[in-house]
Amino acid sequence: MAAAGGTRRGARLSAAALLLALLALVALLALPALRAGHGGEGRAGSPRLPPGLLEELRQRQRDLRRLAAGGEAERGGGGGGLGCADLRGATGGGVLGSGFTKVVERAALAGGGGAVALKSVHGGGREVRQCEQRYGAPAGCRRLAAYKLLKEVALLQRLRHPGIVQLRGQCYDSGGDPGAGVTAVLELGAPLEMIQLLQTPWEERFKICLGLVKLLFYLAHSPLGSIVLLDFQPRQFVMVDGNLKVTDMDDASTEELSCKEDNDCTLDFPAKSFPLKCSSAGKCDGINEKKNLFNAYRYFFTYLLPHSAPPALQPFLSDILNATGDLRYGINETVTAFEKVLHLYKSGLYLQKRPLLLKEYISLKGFRTVEAEDYKCWPSYSHLGCLLSVHSPEEAAAICNSQSQCQSFIVTQQRTWTGRTLASFQSSPTDLIPDANAVVYIKRSASSGKRL
Ligand SMILES: Nc1ncnc2c1ncn2[C@@H]1O[C@H](COP(=O)(O)OP(=O)(O)OP(=O)(O)O)[C@@H](O)[C@H]1O
Ligand SMILES: *[C@@H]1O[C@H](CO)[C@@H](O)[C@H](O)[C@H]1NC(C)=O
Ligand SMILES: *[C@@H]1O[C@H](CO)[C@@H](O)[C@H](O)[C@H]1NC(C)=O
Repeated sequence: MAAAGGTRRGARLSAAALLLALLALVALLALPALRAGHGGEGRAGSPRLPPGLLEELRQRQRDLRRLAAGGEAERGGGGGGLGCADLRGATGGGVLGSGFTKVVERAALAGGGGAVALKSVHGGGREVRQCEQRYGAPAGCRRLAAYKLLKEVALLQRLRHPGIVQLRGQCYDSGGDPGAGVTAVLELGAPLEMIQLLQTPWEERFKICLGLVKLLFYLAHSPLGSIVLLDFQPRQFVMVDGNLKVTDMDDASTEELSCKEDNDCTLDFPAKSFPLKCSSAGKCDGINEKKNLFNAYRYFFTYLLPHSAPPALQPFLSDILNATGDLRYGINETVTAFEKVLHLYKSGLYLQKRPLLLKEYISLKGFRTVEAEDYKCWPSYSHLGCLLSVHSPEEAAAICNSQSQCQSFIVTQQRTWTGRTLASFQSSPTDLIPDANAVVYIKRSASSGKRL
C-alpha cells in the first residue's frame, strides 16, 4: 500500500518535467531508428526503414518537437498525475471506440481509482495498415501512428478547458518497440450519439452547443495561437457528465494558411465556399476560427439548436444559425449571441406578455402527489411521465393548459443546469401525501375529484 503510494507520487511530475520527458522520448525514438536502409526493418536495435517512411517519421518528429519545445517556456497545464505504475493493476473493460489511428479502452484503476479511458495506437487501424502496405515496415508504421498520439498528448498537456477531454496521465512502456508503447490516460466519456441527442430536451441540446461555442472561443485564442480542428466531426467528441468534450486532437493544427493575395484564401466546404482576406502578415485572416465555426454550424447547430426551442427564442436562434452559416459572425460574436439566449432563457424574459393562467389552479402547499406512471410528453426528463423544465409555476400552468390530459402538476425541488426547476405533469388526480417542501397545483375544473 505504502509502496504503491510512493510509486504514484514518483510518477507525478510537474508540467515542465513532463514536457522535458516528452522531448527526451522524441530523441529516444529518433536516434536509433531514423537511419535509412534497404531490405526492410532489419534486426531489432538497428532498424532500417524505407526512405519514404523515414521522411514521414522525420516530419512528424519535427512537428512534435516544435509543440513540445514551445511548452517549456510556459508552465501550467500539466499531464495529469497517473503513470505506468497506476495502470498495472487496472482491470480492462472493453473497447469504447476506435478510429483510423487509435483505439480507446475502458479501464478501472486498482484501489478504487475510478474508471478511465486508455488511448493507444490501433495496430489494426487503417493508418497502420495502409502504411504497412506501402512500406512493409510494421514497427516503423506503428511508430508513425504513435507520433500522432504523442502529438495529441502534447496538445492535451498544454490546452486545458472544460470542452477538452482531460489528460489524467500517460505511460511510455519502454519494453519492446519504444514507438508503439504509448498510452494516454483520459477521463472517461461516452461516445456522442447524435440520434439520442436529438431526443433530449432543448435545454440539454442548447448546453451542448454553448459548450462547443465556448470551446471554439478558447481554441481561437489559445496559448498556442488559433487552433483548427482539421477533422471536425461528431465522432471526435465525447460526453462527460452531460458536457461535450473534444477527444481527438491529433488533427489539430496551429498553422494558419499562408497567402500572397486574397485569391489564395478560399475556405471550401462541400456545399459552400467563402472568400477570405489575405492579411498583411501573409496569412489568411481568421481561417482557423472560421473553419471551426462553420463546421460547428453544419454538424451541430443545424441539428441541435432549433427544434422545440421556446417559441420566443426562435428568432434569436434563427439569427445564430443564419450568421454562423454565412460566417457573418466570428466566434466572439457567436459567444455573445449564445449568452444572450441563455440570459433570456434563465431569467424567464422570453415569457413576457402572456395571459396569467395560474389563477385557474388551486395550490396545495405541503403536499405532493404519489409518484406513479402517468401520461408521457416529449421531450420529458423522465420516461415514466411528463417531467419538464419550467421557469415558474406560471409557465407550468401554461404548459398544463396546453396538454389535454393534464389535470395537475407539482413543481419539484430538482433543478436543471440553468437553475430552472423540473415540473411533473399529471392526468389523473392521484393521492396526495404530505411533503413540507412541495406544492401541488390542481386545475379548478378538476378539483372536485381530488382525494385527500
Ligand atoms: N475519453 C474517452 N471516453 C470514451 N470514449 C472515447 C474517449 N476518447 C475517445 N473515445 C472513443 O474512441 C474513438 C476513437 O478515438 P479517436 O477519435 O481519438 O481515434 P482516431 O483514430 O483519431 O479516430 P478518427 O479516425 O475518427 O480520427 C472515438 O470516436 C470515441 O468514440
Ligand atoms: C441568411 O438569410 C439570408 C436572407 O434571408 C438568406 O439569403 C441566406 O440564405 C441565409 N443563410 C443561411 C445560412 O441560412
Ligand atoms: C475576441 O475576444 C478576444 C478575447 O476577449 C480578444 O482578444 C479579441 O481581440 C476579440 N476579437 C475580435 C475580432 O473582436
